[in-house]
Amino acid sequence: MIMASYSAAGLRSTVEGVLDARRALSTSTLTALFVSGCTGAQSSLAPAAQGAARIADLFWAMTIGSVIILLVVVGLTLYATYGRAQPSEKLSQLLVVGGGAVFPTIVLTGLLIYGLAMLPDFVASAPEGSLKISVTGEQWWWRVRYQRPGAPAVELANEIRLPVNEAVQFELDSPDVIHSFWIPSLGGKVDMIPGRQTQLALTPTKTGEYRGACAEYCGTSHALMAFPVVVSSRDEFTRWLTRQAEPAVTSTDPHAASGRELFVGNGCGACHTIRGTHARGVIGPDLTHVGGRISLGAGTLPNDVEAFRRWIAHTKAIKPDVLMPEFHMLKDKELSALAAYLESLQ
Ligand code: CUA
Repeated sequence: MIMASYSAAGLRSTVEGVLDARRALSTSTLTALFVSGCTGAQSSLAPAAQGAARIADLFWAMTIGSVIILLVVVGLTLYATYGRAQPSEKLSQLLVVGGGAVFPTIVLTGLLIYGLAMLPDFVASAPEGSLKISVTGEQWWWRVRYQRPGAPAVELANEIRLPVNEAVQFELDSPDVIHSFWIPSLGGKVDMIPGRQTQLALTPTKTGEYRGACAEYCGTSHALMAFPVVVSSRDEFTRWLTRQAEPAVTSTDPHAASGRELFVGNGCGACHTIRGTHARGVIGPDLTHVGGRISLGAGTLPNDVEAFRRWIAHTKAIKPDVLMPEFHMLKDKELSALAAYLESLQ
C-alpha cells in the first residue's frame, strides 16, 4: 500500500516535471530546430534519389508510429495517475496483457516487415553497364576513380558528379581505418572497410548540389572529411568527365608559370599527380584539375587563390594531423605564385 502511494506520487511529480519542461520549450523553438534539420544539401529528409526516398519514407513511418504509441502510453499514464474510477481486475489484466505484450508484438512485427521489404532496394547492384565509381577513404579525404570501359580510369579527389536519372555503382574501400561513405540526400551510408570492398548503388532523381560526409569516426580530422556532390544532366556530366580525363593545361600567365616551377622545386610531385607533367605522386590527392573543384581540403575551404595560400602554409592548423606538411617557410610571393598555378588547373 505504502509502495503504491509512493510510486503514484513519484509518477505524478514526473508527469508534472515533463509538463513544465514542455512549457519551457516554446513551440517555435522546437519547430525551428525540427524544420532546419529537414532541408539543405545534406538531409536525409529532403531526398533526391530513389534510395534516399525509401529511407525518408521509413523514417516518417517510424516517427508517426512512435508518436502514436507515445501518446497512448502518456494517456494511459495520466489515466493511471489521475483517474478516479477503480478498474476491475479483468480490465487491469486486459490492459497488462494487451498493452504490454499483444500491442507491441503486432506493432514491432508490422514495422519489421515494412523495413525488411525495403532491404532488396538497398542491397541491389546497379544494372550491368552502369556508371562505376571507386571511392577510397583516405586520412582525411576521398580518392575518386571514374571507371571507363575500354579506357583508363579517371582519378580525381573530394568531389563526385553524377548524371541525373541514371543508376550508379559505387565500389568503396579504405587502406587503413574504417570510414563511412554517406550522401544523405541520395542514399544510405556504407562503411569503407580495410581489406574489403563494399558496394552502394543509387539513382539520383533531382539535379542539384549536395553534400557527402564521413559517417564513422576515423581520427582527429574525421569532421573535416566532406565532399560536394553535383547531379546534372547527362550532357553536362559527359562534358565534365571528358575534361577531367584530359591532362592539365599549362597556363601562359607568368605568375602561374613561376608557381609551377615552385611546385616542382618543392617536391610537391612526390605526393601529388598532375597529369601532363612529371608530378606522379600517389600519396595525396590528384591535382590535375584541382582549380576547377568546388572545395579545397575535402569540403573544408572554398576553392580560391586565398584558400590555396592558407592551405599550403597552414595545413595542420586547418586540418589537424593531416599528412601534408606545412610549407610556411615559403615567402608570400611564392605562396601567391603556387596558389595562382593550382587555381589555373581548371
Ligand atoms: Cu573518415 Cu570519419
